[in-house]
Amino acid sequence: MQKILQTTELEYAFQFTFKKVNSINLEGFKPFFNNLPADPYIKGSYRYRRLSRFIVAEDKLIKLPHGYLYQSKEYNSVVGGVKREFAELEDGLIGLDIFQHMVLAFCDSCKLHPEAEIGIHQIRTTCSSDSFGNPAPEGIHQDGTDFIGIFAVNRENIQGGETHLYTAKKEKPVFNKILNPGELLLVNDHDFFHFTTPIKSLADGQGARDVFVLTSPSLLSDAILDKALL
Ligand SMILES: [Fe+2]
Repeated sequence: MQKILQTTELEYAFQFTFKKVNSINLEGFKPFFNNLPADPYIKGSYRYRRLSRFIVAEDKLIKLPHGYLYQSKEYNSVVGGVKREFAELEDGLIGLDIFQHMVLAFCDSCKLHPEAEIGIHQIRTTCSSDSFGNPAPEGIHQDGTDFIGIFAVNRENIQGGETHLYTAKKEKPVFNKILNPGELLLVNDHDFFHFTTPIKSLADGQGARDVFVLTSPSLLSDAILDKALL
């Protein structure tokens, strides 16, 4: 009798995963969020950001050259179709052990293949007691990438800022939570839409929500190469 042995390699991808990261001391990140340029592509100076792209090779983070961010109108109704450029993350931040640790945790969790490109957005959204800050001005959306990680660094004097995940835009959210400092939400961008509700100050004075958003692929293209082709 013939015996048939079949080995089936399971291919899988997570849909979304929520984690609390205890091994990162967030204090080291905080000074770098006080030195972010305003996002010039949205109305109102309430969002501040930097952006860089990296690959991980043999557990080492390698920064790639400056690029521009491009999303089609299909994915971003507010700034889709616009080539956006942001200042690079600061070298002092990139050199921190906790920064490298955060990126490696994202790569491991997403089972990214070596050399996969990662875009890292460092974003502060601000508000006051009479003006909202909108972390997602484009509304419920997908980014047009494979994997997204939202790592919460700080919530200072704010209410709101709940992160929602949806299987379809008109459905009720399947995930609905304020991401507190040290919490990481990983999302398969193919399967879910995401959104974060506006923030407002809790007490008088400015409020701020600080996050890193990691995506793979990065959605960044080489600015120099593109200019050379024009
Ligand atoms: Fe997004």
